[in-house]
Amino acid sequence: MKMIGRIASALCISILSLLGFQAQLSAQDASHELTYNGQIGKIINENCVVCHQEGGIGPMQFQNYDQVRPWAPLISFKVANKEMPPYAYDDGIGIQHLIGDWRLKQDEIDQIVAWVEQGAPLGDPDSSPPAFQLKDPNEWNFVAELGQPDMIVPSMSYDIPASGNDLWSTEIVDPGITADRCIKAVQVKPRGDAAAVVHHANSSVLLKNEEGEKERYGMLTEYAMGKWGEMVPDGVCRTLPAGAEIQWSIHMFPGGVGATAQGEMIEDNVVEIGLWFHDEDYANTDVYKQDLALYRIEEQDDLIIPPNGYQMTQGFHSFDHPIRLDSFQPHGHLRMNAASLEIFYPETGRTEAISQISKWSATWHHSHIYDPDVAPLLPAGAVLVLKQWYDNTSDNPNNPDPDQWVVGGSRTGDEMTHAWLAITHLDDEGYEKLVAERKEREDRSIAGQD
Ligand code: HEC
Repeated sequence: MKMIGRIASALCISILSLLGFQAQLSAQDASHELTYNGQIGKIINENCVVCHQEGGIGPMQFQNYDQVRPWAPLISFKVANKEMPPYAYDDGIGIQHLIGDWRLKQDEIDQIVAWVEQGAPLGDPDSSPPAFQLKDPNEWNFVAELGQPDMIVPSMSYDIPASGNDLWSTEIVDPGITADRCIKAVQVKPRGDAAAVVHHANSSVLLKNEEGEKERYGMLTEYAMGKWGEMVPDGVCRTLPAGAEIQWSIHMFPGGVGATAQGEMIEDNVVEIGLWFHDEDYANTDVYKQDLALYRIEEQDDLIIPPNGYQMTQGFHSFDHPIRLDSFQPHGHLRMNAASLEIFYPETGRTEAISQISKWSATWHHSHIYDPDVAPLLPAGAVLVLKQWYDNTSDNPNNPDPDQWVVGGSRTGDEMTHAWLAITHLDDEGYEKLVAERKEREDRSIAGQD
């Protein structure tokens, strides 16, 4: 009996291991089946073609298998390194729920890498991936969600020469706002080839005071190369007041960078602001004010980076009222290569990591918009800790000249150290309400898991 028992269990084990082996085989079979027409074309259509299409900002097109196939090894490299899609934001550190996050899921990256290792096959010629909806690259980014903008504010038109020094333009435009409006979304868009020469375009709001003089009311929005746009969370008002005039501050550099119009003269260079508004009466409802502002990390004059050397800056900000931090966008130029945001709670001595970008690049300025359900809620007195790092060695691929001293300044070859933060200004009541809502949601989701 015992003997039989042993044989039986040995058999069992070998059957089990055989089954395990088979499971392994079928997993391999499944990954063998990774094909362009099966899984990969869909991932590329959904995540890459928006820029990698004819007339798009990407240097090559990925609209079909024949266009993708020659680039397969480079595609594998770029997605495995998380350089494409271009959205540098560290995984696993701080808040990961972002609105307008272009990062691929790890599973999608693994599939692309495995597919390329297997020779990037087409697969079943009779099936094809869901077609990509071609979008005009000059189209506004929020059209799918919000339709065309309610208002477009263009800058003046300039011809930008093919070479020369940085150029700046400050000009004032009256868009004809007759009632206070709350902004739902805003995008700044260089028109056509202007994308190649516009480094940044800030816009502020001016209002006339009682003497009829124009005074600065606040910031409207900020644009830097590669930026997508900003959505203001529901339930808050970023006000554009009646009578507002818009002051542009546009920084251009001749010669162009990026894929389009590199090294060419750009005629009729215009930058446009697209604005989507809430209904007019929204401004009169009882909502908290949100604003976007620049937070200095160090005085510009103090910033100095030695040739072939490094630098790190650190700055602190706190408020006398509770806030919700809605978005974070670090800013620097060609030597900056990393940024982080933490919150320090003086009462407990605890520091919390919120966002980190270890492979920051000036080619892509992203405003990292926190999902309102998880956006940091800060009690009065909590401290925002902003850090930025600079690499002036030849290891930095963006560095045009590691032998230069680099100082704080506005030119592309100078450096800057600040961040743009969108903040909802709360009072105790509003803060406690949001904390309670979150707690309730958490309790509910824990209960739901049971
Ligand atoms: C928002 C626009 C955008 C998206 C989305 C995008 N790319 Fe790109 N891609 C670019 C631009 C612009 C460049 C050239 C400049 C650069 O490298 O940043 C580029 C460059 C590349 C390169 C060439 C890099 C080199 O070294 O020559 C590859 C490969 C690439 N992208 C693959 C992809 C893949 C794969 C996806 C999707 C998973 C993707 N891209 C998504 C805009 C985009």
